[in-house]
Amino acid sequence: MPLTIGEDGAWRDEQDTVLPAHRAVELLTGCDAAIPMLHGVRGEDGAIAGLLELCGVPSAGSPVRAGALGMDKQATKLVAASLGIATANAQLIGPGSAAVTTGLTPPFVVKPASGGSSNGVFVVADPGGVADAVDRARAYGDPVLIEEYVAGREVDVAVFRDRHGALRLGATLEIGVASGGVFGAAEKYDGSARFTVPAPIDAADEAAVRAAAVRLYEGLGCAGVARFDFFVTADGPVLNEVNTAPGMTERSQVPLMYAATGLDYTGLIAELLAAVPSTVPSSPHHGEAPQRTGATA
Ligand SMILES: Nc1ncnc2c1ncn2[C@@H]1O[C@H](COP(=O)(O)OP(=O)(O)O)[C@@H](O)[C@H]1O
Ligand SMILES: [Mg+2]
Repeated sequence: MPLTIGEDGAWRDEQDTVLPAHRAVELLTGCDAAIPMLHGVRGEDGAIAGLLELCGVPSAGSPVRAGALGMDKQATKLVAASLGIATANAQLIGPGSAAVTTGLTPPFVVKPASGGSSNGVFVVADPGGVADAVDRARAYGDPVLIEEYVAGREVDVAVFRDRHGALRLGATLEIGVASGGVFGAAEKYDGSARFTVPAPIDAADEAAVRAAAVRLYEGLGCAGVARFDFFVTADGPVLNEVNTAPGMTERSQVPLMYAATGLDYTGLIAELLAAVPSTVPSSPHHGEAPQRTGATA
């Protein structure tokens, strides 16, 4: 039965009737498996993963921890640093705190630390414009990151673990972004984005991007498909962000990346479903030890 989750967060049935939480849980528990394709806060930050897990619905997506870490761009930086992967130099500005750019070199990118869809992302040429940009980014949520603008090719790569436990990477994809600009909300959804697959980067950068994506997939504990977005600079790849629930429309990056390796959209979905552990942990209420004996264990 189709369900719609509205901007207000309410779950509605086909008659547009708001479903009480227990009814939504009832519907979920009737599913054989779920492939979460929900974005943003409560979509890909672990909330839906936790709901599915507690309901005992096998999921083709990342678990709570990976979703929560991936959604938090500051936490992602810390994990990346611990794995030896560079990210943009940045200052985290907490709720109510004044903008600080000490130690950062302009231009800057100001953005919510847990944003998405390029909402609230601003390029600022000099320190004088940062306070205003922080206020505007805050409208999309605290805390806010002030990053150095990273000049380089914007290159994404996707990873999923297949039913045999092997990691499958899509082809690299370059997003055509005007120099000094950003991949903005309009281009993401109006079909005007220019993608080049595979990305026109040299073999060393290609290898570095792919190795970093694999380290991040494992380090964060991802499951299902995740997309890792880099800037390829003269000094090698710099991680921009991690998407544990990447866009999956036919025009989105991930399906294009796998299509370029010979795995079409239907095949990709079939692979993601085939990798879902077949055994769901038993409910602790029944006094049994949780089991996970799926093919990907
Ligand atoms: N530090 C940066 N340097 C250069 N461009 C950036 C930087 N941070 C973000 N961008 C640009 O802004 C876009 C959106 O930022 P991103 O951090 O990916 O936010 P979102 O989660 O909304 O996609 C990126 O795709 C990139 O084009
Ligand atoms: Mg992004």
